[in-house]
Amino acid sequence: MSLNNQRGGLLLTLLAGGAVSVGIIVGSVWMLRQTPEFDDKGTEVSVEYGRQLIRETSVLMGPEHEDPAMRYSGSNLDCSSCHLDSGTKPGTLSLLTASSRYPRFSGRDGIEGDLRDRINGCMERSMNGTKLPRESAEMRSMEAYILSLGEQYAAMGETRRQSEEPTAFREPARAADPVAGQVVYEERCQVCHGDNGQGLPATLDIREGYLFPPLWGPDSFNNGAGMNRVLTASNFIKARMPLGQPDLTDDEAYDVAAYINSKERPQKANLEVDYPDRKNKPVDSPYGPYADPFPPEQHRVGPYGPIREFYRGLE
Ligand code: HEC
Ligand code: HEC
Repeated sequence: MSLNNQRGGLLLTLLAGGAVSVGIIVGSVWMLRQTPEFDDKGTEVSVEYGRQLIRETSVLMGPEHEDPAMRYSGSNLDCSSCHLDSGTKPGTLSLLTASSRYPRFSGRDGIEGDLRDRINGCMERSMNGTKLPRESAEMRSMEAYILSLGEQYAAMGETRRQSEEPTAFREPARAADPVAGQVVYEERCQVCHGDNGQGLPATLDIREGYLFPPLWGPDSFNNGAGMNRVLTASNFIKARMPLGQPDLTDDEAYDVAAYINSKERPQKANLEVDYPDRKNKPVDSPYGPYADPFPPEQHRVGPYGPIREFYRGLE
């Protein structure tokens, strides 16, 4: 008997039973219409698998996975190390509204890309890994999960949407100061992220990922990642860190972001081909080449006002 027939039989039995709630009927009809999909390795595509991949990336496709073919990620971070609560937390780095934004033009790639391309952007940079095959169960499941978040968001009330988003970061009109940032780090971050930014593994087995993820060093995001830009990192840190008590001033968030991003981390190859139209490069991109005459150091730490003014002059 095929799977669908089994489910059909179940539905009939339930109906025959009489005392069946409308909810179950609707649920069963919904299930009948969902034919499970598999990739060419026979792995099932599902929203639940997508959620697990985002929450337990290290376990499911980390660099120490026992099956070498599954070692897509180059670090033991999880997607949810940055996309908090598996992307369900509204606000900074939420994945709730991601599905509505794609396909769209990517200045970094110089072409239009869809959600799968965007996921692979984080795979190659934030996770310091390799691209997932577009048709793999892993890619399709994460995509399905992010689409389901879009539906969840649409159903969410405005109050709930706004309740979690703290005051936005306001960029100071000066260069960020990594020396002042080190003091912030030691006082407010080190207790969790470690005296050398190395984080704290969840167990003795690194495949289990981190309790507190690393902020720099060999197992962190690479230099091509968004978090390696001082303004992106400042936004995130101001909104979310220290975890559970995000109370830094704009100045502290800016300086500690510069401190973290002054440290060693994995280097991504071929970054010079990013942003084929260099005028699209964000002002805080830490790597060249640039379409402006400002020194690389000013792109890394600011001040950004003069750089923005230069580009406005070109328009
Ligand atoms: C080190 C932090 C970090 C990690 C880990 C990370 N990301 Fe991201 N992600 C970012 C940043 C930063 C952005 C860019 C946000 C922006 O453009 O403002 C982003 C953007 C995205 C977007 C686009 C969101 C939108 O609304 O346009 C998706 C989708 C995404 N990430 C998926 C993932 C997935 C899937 C993983 C794990 C395989 C992952 N990310 C891991 C930092 C991270
Ligand atoms: C109470 C422990 C704690 C403190 C203190 C803390 N963090 Fe975090 N941080 C976390 C956890 C846990 C995560 C991963 C999110 C998750 O798992 O929910 C994280 C994630 C991050 C990330 C993104 C992931 C990565 O590995 O890059 C950055 C950046 C970050 N923290 C910076 C900071 C900074 C800067 C401070 C100090 C101002 C700080 N954190 C203080 C616990 C903490």
